Amino acid sequence: MSDEASLSLGKDLTGLETLSAAQIRMILDTAEPFKEISERRIKKVPVLRGKTIVNLFFEASTRTRVSFEFAEKRLSADTVNISSTGSSVVKGETLVDTARNLEAMRIDMVVMRHGSSGAARFLADRIPSSVVNAGDGSHEHPTQGLLDLLTIRDHTEKIEGLKVCIVGDILHSRVARSNIYGLRALGAEVGVCGPRTLLPPAAEELGVHVFSRVEEAIEWADVLNVLRLQLERMHAGYVPSLREYNRVWGITTARLEAAERDLLILHPGPMNRGVEIDSDVADGPHSVILNQVTNGVAVRMAVLYLLAGGRPEKAEAAKQGGES
Ligand code: CP
Repeated sequence: MSDEASLSLGKDLTGLETLSAAQIRMILDTAEPFKEISERRIKKVPVLRGKTIVNLFFEASTRTRVSFEFAEKRLSADTVNISSTGSSVVKGETLVDTARNLEAMRIDMVVMRHGSSGAARFLADRIPSSVVNAGDGSHEHPTQGLLDLLTIRDHTEKIEGLKVCIVGDILHSRVARSNIYGLRALGAEVGVCGPRTLLPPAAEELGVHVFSRVEEAIEWADVLNVLRLQLERMHAGYVPSLREYNRVWGITTARLEAAERDLLILHPGPMNRGVEIDSDVADGPHSVILNQVTNGVAVRMAVLYLLAGGRPEKAEAAKQGGES
């Protein structure tokens, strides 16, 4: 593969597992100049003028859906939002038929959240438009992984060698998987910590340290990425009770103070306050949870720009209204 080919994203973004460190860095570096667009009085540049993007959300979302839409609108794309409840999916239309009908109206990209692992790849292999995975089942949530990386990079000297522990419901978490792939690609050491019932059966095979006590994880880590208990995906008794979970696994001020050094605190949201994270930590001085949300718009702008054929080195000029 030539340098140029290896530094493009190709047609789709369905996960971070298959991206190289150079490709991940390219997305993060492209997001940097796009951050400033959201700080302007008029938050609009003509970078994706003429492109049509469909946001197809088969599962609930606040942050991802809204920030993709902001990213698209701030780059001047034409956007259409479709949710399963308001579409012909409720009448039994298949995913591929839905997408082919959208294709017939000449679209350029589909951003999709779906409850089934692999749905984004399945669709990407069947339609000519670019597909961006906005979360598929328990598989991956690549733009969340990227915005987490960008936020960590904003607050630390370098990701290489950093110790990042993902705490909580790893088993059901697409965020955990995308974080593990992205962080390891950039040279971070990654840990996971949670009740054995909420860890994948062979967690060590993901190339991570596995901590069975949250105090050990806090002692080890520079950064904690705290995950939500995905109560909607839990049809078995994975934890005795939410109160018990907080008592044993919760990220609390008392636990962090025991570490006697400052850890950076991330959470992809939505949070169960008082369960996996206490409010004084979530709203405390070391929390970058809202920075993650802000960075989400810039990262999604970068992904859309690159998939549309934009060159990373032209992002600065493109956002000033010049060449892309
Ligand atoms: N982090 C995240 O995916 O949040 P939403 O479910 O609100 O999009």
